[in-house]
Amino acid sequence: MDYLKILGGQNIQGSVLISGAKNAALPLLASSLLFEDGLEVSNLPDVVDVKTLVRLLEYLGCGILWKDAHSLRIDAKKLVHTKATYDIVRKMRASILILGPLLARFRKCEVSLPGGCAIGARPVDLHIKAMEKMGAEITIENGYITAKAPNGLRGAHITFDKITVTGTENVLMAAGLAKGKTQIINAAKEPEVVQLCELLQQSGVEIEGIGTDTLVVHGRDGEALKSQKISVIPDRIEAGTYMCVGAILNTKLTLKNVDPRHLESVSDKLEEIGFGVETLDNELSILPAKKYNAFELVTSEYPGFPTDMQAQFMALATQCEGTSIIEERLFENRFMHVSELQRLGAHISLKGNIAQVYGQTPLNGADVMATDLRASSALILAAIVAKGYTQIHRIYHLDRGYEKIEEKLRKIGIKIERLKD
Ligand code: UD1
Repeated sequence: MDYLKILGGQNIQGSVLISGAKNAALPLLASSLLFEDGLEVSNLPDVVDVKTLVRLLEYLGCGILWKDAHSLRIDAKKLVHTKATYDIVRKMRASILILGPLLARFRKCEVSLPGGCAIGARPVDLHIKAMEKMGAEITIENGYITAKAPNGLRGAHITFDKITVTGTENVLMAAGLAKGKTQIINAAKEPEVVQLCELLQQSGVEIEGIGTDTLVVHGRDGEALKSQKISVIPDRIEAGTYMCVGAILNTKLTLKNVDPRHLESVSDKLEEIGFGVETLDNELSILPAKKYNAFELVTSEYPGFPTDMQAQFMALATQCEGTSIIEERLFENRFMHVSELQRLGAHISLKGNIAQVYGQTPLNGADVMATDLRASSALILAAIVAKGYTQIHRIYHLDRGYEKIEEKLRKIGIKIERLKD
C-alpha cells in the first residue's frame, strides 16, 4: 500500500494550480443520465472518486469518451442496468447521486445502501423521503434501495429537515424531469449545488431561487435534456487546504484557478488568525502573519465554515498561540484525526463535538494513519511543520479527492515522496 514520507520544516515558494472541484464534478457526472444525446464535462479533477463514478456510469451502459485526463463526453442514450452495486457504493457514498436521475429518466433503479463511514452514520433517509414524496415506490431489502416510478415522478413540495448537499442535488435532478413544479425548502446553497442548477437551467429546466435555500424547479415531464457542455468550478476545499499550507509555514503562497468568492469563510478565519489574503479575479494569495492568534471555529453549511476544512484548521491551531476551540456541527464522528495529530505531539482535548487545541506546540515526525479524506490533508499539514520525517499511511483516502498532491507540494519546495509498504 502507498504511503507518504514527508520531511518537515522546508521553505516553500511559488504557486499552486487548483483543480476542478470533486464535489461539483460528481453531481454533474450523475446528471449525464438526464441527457439523451450527451454531456461534455471539462476541468474534471484527476481523482479516484471521479473515476469511480465514471466506472459506475459505464457499468450502467453509458458511452464514455475521454478527451484527455480532465474532460470527457458521456452518452446515456440507452442503459443496460439501473443498479449501483455494493462494491461501487461502499467505495464512494456519493454514488447515491444516481438515484434521482435514474428514477426520473428510466423510472426505476436499485442503489446499495451506503452504510456507515469513518465520519459517522451518514444516513440517506432524506433522499429516500424526498423521492417518495415525488411518487416513487421505495423498498429497502438486502441492503439495497429499490425504487420505482412506473408513471414517472411528479413535482412535490419538499422541506428538508436538515440541509443536505447531495440530497438537494438528487432532488434537483429528479425534479428536472418530473411532471410539474417541485419546491425545495431548506435547500443547500453550496457553490457545487449552484453549478448543478446552472447546468440544468442551461439545458432547459427552469429553476427559480438559484443560490438560495428555496428552489423551485419546473419539471419537463419526462422529456430528456439535450446535449450540453460544462466546465467544473475550482475546488474550494483543495484551495483552502493549500491556503493552510502557506499559513502553517507562514509563507506567501499563491493559488491559481480559484474562485475567491467561494473561499470567504476560510479567508475570514485566516485573517482572524493573523494572515493576509489578497485576491484577484481567479487568483488568491495567502500572506504571512506577524503572530498566530488562537481562534474559535464552528462548522456549518455554506456560506458558513465548511466541515471539509475542519481537520486542516485543527492542524493549523497546533501552531497558534493560546487555546483554539473547534466545534463540529455536521458530522458526529469527524475527529478521527485528533489521535493521529496527538501522535505528532499536538495537545488536543476532546469533549463530544468540541475540540480544544492548546498551542503553540512543536510537532515531531512519526508514523500516522489517514482516516478519511480531509483528515489525511490535516496530517500532511502537521507533517510539513513537524521536526524530522513523518510517514502517512493509508493514503488511498487522499487519492479520492486531491489531484497529484505530492507533485503539487514538491513543486513549491516540500520534501515529499510516495513509497510502498
Ligand atoms: C457533502 C459533501 C461532503 C461534505 C458534506 C457537508 C459531496 C459529494 N460531499 O456530503 O464533502 O462534507 O456535503 O458539507 O458533495 N443527513 C441525514 N440524512 C440524509 C442526508 C444527510 O441525516 O438523508 C445528515 C448527514 O448525516 C449530515 C448532514 O445531514 O449530518 C449533512 O450531510 P450532507 O450535506 O447530506 O452530506 P453529503 O451530501 O453526503
